[in-house]
Amino acid sequence: MQNPVPDCLPTMNAPDHSAVPFDFDRIIDRRCMPGEKWGRYAGRDVLPLWVADMDFAAPPAVVEALRRRLDHGVFGYTDAWPSLEQAVVEGLQRDHGWTIEPDWLVWLPGVVTGFNLACLLAGEPGDGVLTATPVYPPFLSAPANTGRVLQRCELVLRDGRWQWDWEALERAADARSRMLLLCSPHNPVGRVFDTDELRRLADFAERRDLLICSDEIHCGLVLDGERPHRPIAALDQATARRTITLMAPSKTWNIPALYCAFAVIPDAVLRRRYRHAMRGLIPHANVLGMVATEAAYRDGGPWRAALLDYLRGNRARVLEAATAMPGLAMTSPEATYLAWIDCRGLMAARGIDDPAAFFEAAGVGLSDGRPFGAPGWLRLNFGCPRATLDEALRRMAAALTR
Ligand SMILES: Cc1ncc(COP(=O)(O)O)c(C=O)c1O
Repeated sequence: MQNPVPDCLPTMNAPDHSAVPFDFDRIIDRRCMPGEKWGRYAGRDVLPLWVADMDFAAPPAVVEALRRRLDHGVFGYTDAWPSLEQAVVEGLQRDHGWTIEPDWLVWLPGVVTGFNLACLLAGEPGDGVLTATPVYPPFLSAPANTGRVLQRCELVLRDGRWQWDWEALERAADARSRMLLLCSPHNPVGRVFDTDELRRLADFAERRDLLICSDEIHCGLVLDGERPHRPIAALDQATARRTITLMAPSKTWNIPALYCAFAVIPDAVLRRRYRHAMRGLIPHANVLGMVATEAAYRDGGPWRAALLDYLRGNRARVLEAATAMPGLAMTSPEATYLAWIDCRGLMAARGIDDPAAFFEAAGVGLSDGRPFGAPGWLRLNFGCPRATLDEALRRMAAALTR
């Protein structure tokens, strides 16, 4: 591995952005750029609050690092380099108290790729992969993509908080279960699992000798300081040995289409099997994504802190507005910029059978709960300027009073 910071780029050290105020209120017109989120409603007056990317520009430190790399002009094949790995190692230590070795990192073009690959390592075709629903839809298709069988248990809403149903988890498992596919923090319910819950999941995996694949892509988006994210692999060495942790800068620093993610696999044998499964199928992570990743983990802290502050404000607005809307209910997400809204009351009271279509007709594009395994629910992405969010909430409330 070569360090690609050559002498010809002496300005590679990023400037200090800690004193710069970040403007999350700025509305950037995304309709003039190809993109899924706004492209879905091209030519229509629908505010898109669906797919999980934010309407904010990436951190200045990231954009500047990209610009410097672009100015070089040569984009040859590139493996991860030492200062990139160091930025990630230091970032995980600093932000999550997790000590990892650079050797444990396996670079990937995406997290979805990463957990589909993990399914390939889960026993044989026909074996079971356990996951808790509702969940990010690719979790539900990954087992079948690799010839495995999806085994699902429902998270339950108890005392105003989404929780594990430990008996349902035991019931969902059987002698052919080989892997626990975990989403932590959880999309869409927004839970940050606490140490007791993670401990119980790790014990469950130990008892049944399951591989754990933990998608922790949302770990940088924990909204409440008193509830920090804990990587399940950081619990103890035994858990680390059976765990593939998947992370990426893409959600936190809003660079999903730069296609760069990584697996952290402490166990050398598991890591070798994982790399072997990648051979000939999985392309390198994108060099621009890797440049952005280094800048994000090394210099993106102040931007992330400001973002979380802004998202807390947006979360409060969504919570207040949605709970005041007749027939809607939600819990406060502990992480992510995603609100998970129960519309079953609205459906029953108003005879509405498709709440996503109902709000879309009112000018707000939300994610339908059905692909998450939860008909009657909607997911609202509040990662946008407050003016956009307020207008969307106003449209939703107006539709309900009509
Ligand atoms: C839990 C979860 N995992 C993975 C992804 C996507 O990851 P990637 O784009 O790196 O494949 C998302 C995107 O919303 C997500 O919410």
